Amino acid sequence: GRLRKIVFSDPVELQLLNRLLAPHITCGIFWKISKLWLKGCKVIILDIPLLFEAKMDQWTDPVIVVWVDPKTQIERLVSRDGCSEEQAQNRIDTQLALDWKKSQADMVVNNSGSLDDTKEQLQEVLKQVSGDLTWKERLRSRDDLVSIVLCTTIGVLLAHKNLLG
Ligand SMILES: *[C@@H]1O[C@H](CO)[C@@H](O)[C@H](O)[C@H]1NC(C)=O
Repeated sequence: GRLRKIVFSDPVELQLLNRLLAPHITCGIFWKISKLWLKGCKVIILDIPLLFEAKMDQWTDPVIVVWVDPKTQIERLVSRDGCSEEQAQNRIDTQLALDWKKSQADMVVNNSGSLDDTKEQLQEVLKQVSGDLTWKERLRSRDDLVSIVLCTTIGVLLAHKNLLG
């Protein structure tokens, strides 16, 4: 929350801050993810504006980019923060280009239209990511890890019994 209020004018400043903070932020997020995973969550959605800048995209799958056309992006920044168009542009320039992020995304939500429009697309994305998991994803989710461990344990117990009997 508090971090969001800092405005950077210089990309070098932002890079430095990322280098200093990324390990701590990442550590906190991993702790939260571990707790959710232990609870048995199959899908965990991370809302990280600087996912690519912090190089965290290597840990997440799929990557969903909420994209907006540049003109609308500036208009919204100006009306939200009351800054000038130039300040808005400067702030955008400190981040990796949204079009590049879009090209790296597994799924894209086009946020250029109305809020309802975006919500509708988000519902669709949620449906897709929480649908049937592939066997690889299932292996990584906790429920099935437990059942694999259980199967192995039972298997070992049975083998023991056979050897003894
Ligand atoms: C994004 O949505 C806007 C508004 O609905 C539309 O005009 C535009 O063509 C869309 N752009 C892309 C790249 O899908």
